[in-house]
Amino acid sequence: MLSRLVAVNTLTKNKIKIITKECIYLEKEIIMCGIIGYVTKEKTKTVIPILLDGLKKLEYRGYDSAGVAFLNENKVDIIKESGPIVNLEKSLNKEIESNIGIGHTRWATHGKATKENSHPHRCGKMTIVHNGIIENYLQLKDFLQKENYSFISDTDTEVAAALIDYLYEESGNVLDALNDFIKKAKGAYAIAIICDDFHDRLFVIKKASPLIIGVNENENFIASDVPAILDKTNKYIILEDKDYAEIYADKINVYRDKKKIKYKINDFKGDKLLIDKQGYEHFMLKEIHEQPDIIKNLIDRYLKKEFILPDITKYQKIIVVGCGSAYHAGLIGKYLIEKNLNIEVSCEIASEFRYKKLFLDKDSLVIAISQSGETADTLAAVKISKACKAHTLGIVNVKESSIAREVDDVIYTEAGTEIAVATTKAYSAQVLMFILLSLEKNVSKIKKLKSLPLLMQKLINQVDDYKRIASYIQEKEHLFFIGRLIDYAVAMEGSLKLKEISYIHSEAYASGELKHGTISLIEKGTPVVALVSDKSIAEKTLSNIKEVKARDANVVLIVSEESNLISDCYDYKIVLPSILEEAYPLLMIIPLQLISYEVAKLRKCSIDKPKNLAKSVTVE
Ligand code: G6P
Repeated sequence: MLSRLVAVNTLTKNKIKIITKECIYLEKEIIMCGIIGYVTKEKTKTVIPILLDGLKKLEYRGYDSAGVAFLNENKVDIIKESGPIVNLEKSLNKEIESNIGIGHTRWATHGKATKENSHPHRCGKMTIVHNGIIENYLQLKDFLQKENYSFISDTDTEVAAALIDYLYEESGNVLDALNDFIKKAKGAYAIAIICDDFHDRLFVIKKASPLIIGVNENENFIASDVPAILDKTNKYIILEDKDYAEIYADKINVYRDKKKIKYKINDFKGDKLLIDKQGYEHFMLKEIHEQPDIIKNLIDRYLKKEFILPDITKYQKIIVVGCGSAYHAGLIGKYLIEKNLNIEVSCEIASEFRYKKLFLDKDSLVIAISQSGETADTLAAVKISKACKAHTLGIVNVKESSIAREVDDVIYTEAGTEIAVATTKAYSAQVLMFILLSLEKNVSKIKKLKSLPLLMQKLINQVDDYKRIASYIQEKEHLFFIGRLIDYAVAMEGSLKLKEISYIHSEAYASGELKHGTISLIEKGTPVVALVSDKSIAEKTLSNIKEVKARDANVVLIVSEESNLISDCYDYKIVLPSILEEAYPLLMIIPLQLISYEVAKLRKCSIDKPKNLAKSVTVE
């Protein structure tokens, strides 16, 4: 199997340290938020632009608040602001000379997204940023209060800072304090520390939250993920759980349980983060427009055998897991694999899968889909599957991400860096991978996909149609997306796109199910987006369209040329040109993405960074 994959893991796999499922439940993957840190030998340099740059690259992990701490003439300054990183940027003097600093971008889990709750936090001699949750922080806080520590925020992070400070005062040695901290603090944490007594180094601790050290000449970095530091270096060290380290500009010492350990310096081979709108008004629009090229490249490369996909027919059971849009791509995969390969597939929401009863064994294949490769629930699903001896295959966009490293085999979707929170191009690349997997080696069918990029482009160009539909939808409070089978899966993604970026409530329904309750919500003017690509069931969906039309709904019909649906039951109509039937989801999604985009634009929403969301949800 491994030899059949080109895109297999090249990194040493993270060993599963926890074997039983029960234990995995206890091991939470709480890695929301982003950490950056920097130390340099150059005394006259300012760390602030470097911290800001790293934070911007980590903003996909959350943008509720952000802060930095840096050495300023022998004392540690902390600047933090609620809201996105641009707010912090406005408060910072980028000229201040400083050789050492840490930064944090937050997605609020415990405590509101206020300035007080944002990181860094300081207690005694310790200034820290932290990802994760200290589960026993209330007991620790109680203890520390009795030791005369006082707290100004409600966060567990401030307690962590106090505990490290206390342990340092007790032992007189920071490294011993860090080791003691690991013994006393329960939960998950990646922590970066500046200690007042040591102005030439950063300290870090890592347990169940990712943290890497970027290595360069006379300067070193810390970050939650590798792409955050790629502009500066592609050499990095992965810290294992319970590791702690001291990072100088020209030296790194990593310890585990009081012993200095040897570490491996890896070379990152993935893409650099490209953060440039290239003239588009939003990243989302740019990414929608990139789709034809991405799909073309993947099809060409696949036909030239530049990458090979695994044979998934040898498994008795296939389970696809993912969250959000990745889950929706998985649903499409389910329909395609079942139809073309005759294997029953279940598709599970990763956050449910990780806690439900599982029936996995060595004959099971678990396919984990994730753009970021960092989604906590999906990562946990992979770990549980491996513990149950199932084979795991990742369909991942971000190279060398946590899921890519964890799975047995990985297929990279090669969609390039996706910045907009609402996924478009990575989703389409995931769907294409399922199309290719389900077509197995049927070259004549795969060749028929060659016209797909051009047809996608043609649909992208129909912008006036989408604008017209958007101006009708923009003032509505609710709408419905309906479709059957694979169209239903696409309807779910269309509905999610609209909700994510325009904040209009919508629901996706299997067309035939609408009449079993939800049709009570259809009234005069309710928009219903009806999707019909599959000619074999077009007439059935048409009956459902007639049912909503009879109740005065307004129908936006997105229909394949091939379905031969002759109907005047619509108010707006988009026709999808003919293509291999497996490929319709990739055509269908284009109008849905662009209608959502245009609606969000008319409603003046924050399209690339919708409220309350994060690009990758690294808390469970
Ligand atoms: C978040 C994003 C969604 C995304 C989901 C899964 O919720 O807002 O757009 O689909 O995570 O992300 P992943 O990186 O695992 O594909």
